[in-house]
This record gives sequence, C-alpha cells and structure tokens, in this order.
Amino acid sequence: MKLIVVKDYEEMSLKASLIIKELLMRKKDATLGLATGSSPIGIYQNLIKYYQNKEISFKDVKTYNLDEYCELPRSHPESYYSFMHRNLFSSIDILEENVHIPCSEGSDLQALCKEYNDLLHQADIDLQLLGIGANGHIGFNEPNTPFTQETWVVKLTEKTRLDNQRFFNSLDEVPTHAMTMGIKNIMQAKCLLLVASGKNKALAIKRLASGEVSEECPATILNNHPNAIVIVDEEAASLIK
Ligand code: GLP
Repeated sequence: MKLIVVKDYEEMSLKASLIIKELLMRKKDATLGLATGSSPIGIYQNLIKYYQNKEISFKDVKTYNLDEYCELPRSHPESYYSFMHRNLFSSIDILEENVHIPCSEGSDLQALCKEYNDLLHQADIDLQLLGIGANGHIGFNEPNTPFTQETWVVKLTEKTRLDNQRFFNSLDEVPTHAMTMGIKNIMQAKCLLLVASGKNKALAIKRLASGEVSEECPATILNNHPNAIVIVDEEAASLIK
C-alpha cells in the first residue's frame, strides 16, 4: 500500500484526480468504481474541469458505484443516484447506459443484490475510488464484515447514521439500511484509491497505516491489495507515528 500525505483537502483532491486523469488518457474505455460522500466531491470537480478543457472524455467510460441507501427512491436528493448525477454525471459526456449504481428500490432486495453482484463479476474495474468512514468502513461495509462478503444489504451502525445525518433534516430521515459492494468485490479492482481528510478519520487512518489487517477495521484490507494508493491530508494523518 502506498500512503501519500498531503496538506489539505484541495491537494488530496488534486493528487487523486490526476491519477484518474492519467488512467483515462491512457485507457479511454476504462472502468471506474466510484464513491459518494464529501471526500470525492473535489475529485469530481477536477474531473469535470479536465473534461471541459477537453483533456479527457467519458464517452467510452463505464462506472460502477459502491453503494446506495435502501428505502430512498432514486429521485430523493440524498440518494447516491442523485448525488452522482448532481456532482459528476450531469456535467460530463458519460452515457447513461454505462452508469451502474445499485438499485435498492423494490421488494426483492436479495434479487437486486444478486443482479448487481453478477454485473460486478463482469465489470473488470480498473480503479476503485474509496472514501473511509470514521469507523473504518468502506462502501457501507461496517466493522466486522467478513472479507469474503459480496454485494449485500447492510444494517447501518448508529455511528454511520449519525455521521450521515448532516445530509438529512433529522436522524429519523437517515435510512437504516443500504446495499453495498462487499469487500471481496472491492478487492477485485486492479487499483484501489482511497482518500481521507479531516481529524475524524485519523483513528481509522492510523489503523490502516499500521499495516494491520483486521475485519474490525474494514479499510485495513487495503494492506492486502497489490495496488492500493491512500491519499490523506495532514489532519487525517495526525495520529500516524
Ligand atoms: C458513507 C459512504 C462511504 C463514504 C463514507 C465517508 O458512509 N457510504 O462510501 O466513504 O460515507 O463519507 P465522507 O467522505 O462524507 O466522510
């Protein structure tokens, strides 16, 4: 695992977006695994700029998102479907048929999980972008998720619901469940690119940087990936000795 410490959110976003730009310049039909949350927003803004400057195109790019809330219609402003369209897809030339986001609307969630998992088996993701939860979760794989887990429906921990409450009017409105790629799916990407900023990520980053590999802190699985890059700002790195 390659750990890069930078000054702040802006520099983290720049470094990460240059890695993605370089991939898209080299491989015009790359497949990207994408993430939501506040961490990747700066990266998406940079990618939009590169697209507008005609440095890259998404015409032949395919994307697969990590996760989606259950119980929220796709049209809800806080669904990850809406998030991705608002923050990236509506500003680039990606084809809607090349965009894949777990669909958690419907009565048979198990069938929807299997459908997304089957898609992932064929996806061959070149680069998977990841944020990290304060408790070390990746996607929505909470602590103690087996590393062998594939796409599934997760009951969110209270910590994660509280962390994500800021996007909703109240805690009651935060969904209790989500559908997420499993750790096994995430590990199948050729390259993993994790970004983290801010003090509330420092403990999880400390565990990741220690070389530990433990299901108690899901992100530590990156230590077992042959090509994982972790870009963190000074605050997120503040507990690394
Ligand atoms: C959510 C998402 C994760 C994300 C995490 C951190 O729980 N499911 O994919 O990494 O939040 O979010 P943020 O980047 O806003 O701190």
